[in-house]
Amino acid sequence: MNERIHPTRRRVLQGLAGAAALNALPLRAQAGEPLKIGLILPMTGPFASTGKQVSAACRLYVQRNGDTVAGRKVDLIVKDDAGVPDTTKRIAQELVVQDKVHVLAGFGLTPLALATAPVATEAKVPMIVMVAATAIIPTRSPFIVRSGFTLPQVTGPVADWAAKNKIRRVYTMVTDYGPGLDAEKAFHARFKAAGGEIVESVRTPLANPDFGPFVQKVKDKAPDALFVFVPSGQGLAVMKQFEERGLRQAGIRMIGTGDVTDDDLLESMGPPAVGVITSFHYSAAHDSPENKAYVDAFGKANGGLRPNFHSVGGYDGMHLIYEAVKKTGGKGSGEELVNAMKGMSWTSPRGPVTIDPTARDVVQTVYLREVKMVGGKPWNVEFDKFDNVKPQEG
Ligand code: PHB
Repeated sequence: MNERIHPTRRRVLQGLAGAAALNALPLRAQAGEPLKIGLILPMTGPFASTGKQVSAACRLYVQRNGDTVAGRKVDLIVKDDAGVPDTTKRIAQELVVQDKVHVLAGFGLTPLALATAPVATEAKVPMIVMVAATAIIPTRSPFIVRSGFTLPQVTGPVADWAAKNKIRRVYTMVTDYGPGLDAEKAFHARFKAAGGEIVESVRTPLANPDFGPFVQKVKDKAPDALFVFVPSGQGLAVMKQFEERGLRQAGIRMIGTGDVTDDDLLESMGPPAVGVITSFHYSAAHDSPENKAYVDAFGKANGGLRPNFHSVGGYDGMHLIYEAVKKTGGKGSGEELVNAMKGMSWTSPRGPVTIDPTARDVVQTVYLREVKMVGGKPWNVEFDKFDNVKPQEG
């Protein structure tokens, strides 16, 4: 056999060596030793805006709350997985085995979180899912705690709103993977239960989607509204096609989960986004003192950037880590940290949140919002809310 190991094979072997080493890790952190948090995010590639938002929010949390918690210096190690699941998993193994991180965090897309769940289980390291939003994710490891949201949770209110507001026939367009399928299922169930009709549904590819032909087909069917789920980063392309192909002028409304009117892209969308109705857990326009301070500090630290919902998933994920470390006196094992996170409640920039102790997932307020021009810029302006929405609610 050739003694040169093929690069793929070498990676697999390293992965196995890493897996064996995971079992030999010390479980308990020493009081006073640095608290190492491995933050794995897409910092490059089509989902780089998510990496930018989440890493900026985590740094802001450290800036506002101090770089020491329970006597331990916080060491945030940020790694780029470019949105590739095998890379996320490999980086997680390296962070655990070589850097000996105490917490893994980030996970900018569902496939990245799913690929890494076995690493967290084996290493007994808490895995804070700040972004990925398919409902089943926390069932994949007892070490997962989610600080973001789920698609079933945020989809129901806009379905009910549509049915109550003269929208009878809806076309649905979702991205063809976990969160899109969750959104489609939740929307169809709630809208039909409220007496609505689904005219047709289409699923668009996650990689390099060209929304033009899909949006044209929607126009030809002349529904009352188009319901959209696309992951953060793709909303602007959808909005461009919707506008260019004249759906708005034809009287077709756009509705969706708030991913499509992502605060990160909303200013670039401009006036064509006005009137889009979404339901979601976070708007940068949320009217509370905590959020005003957050938006202000985030903008100051990031050249005026508006924080989006993923940033809040990151910020609250850091809060969970800090509070769990405090609760365990700086000495908690991975399992003790996860236990400390269960049932935790606090006021986030998005509003009140609680970690469901059984599901290890967020219970939170979901808001209905309309894009309006305020001060010459488009914002997701909240106009109704539903408290304590469970992660599995559709
Ligand atoms: C996901 O992959 O779970 C995901 C990513 C971005 C979103 C929502 C869900 O905006």
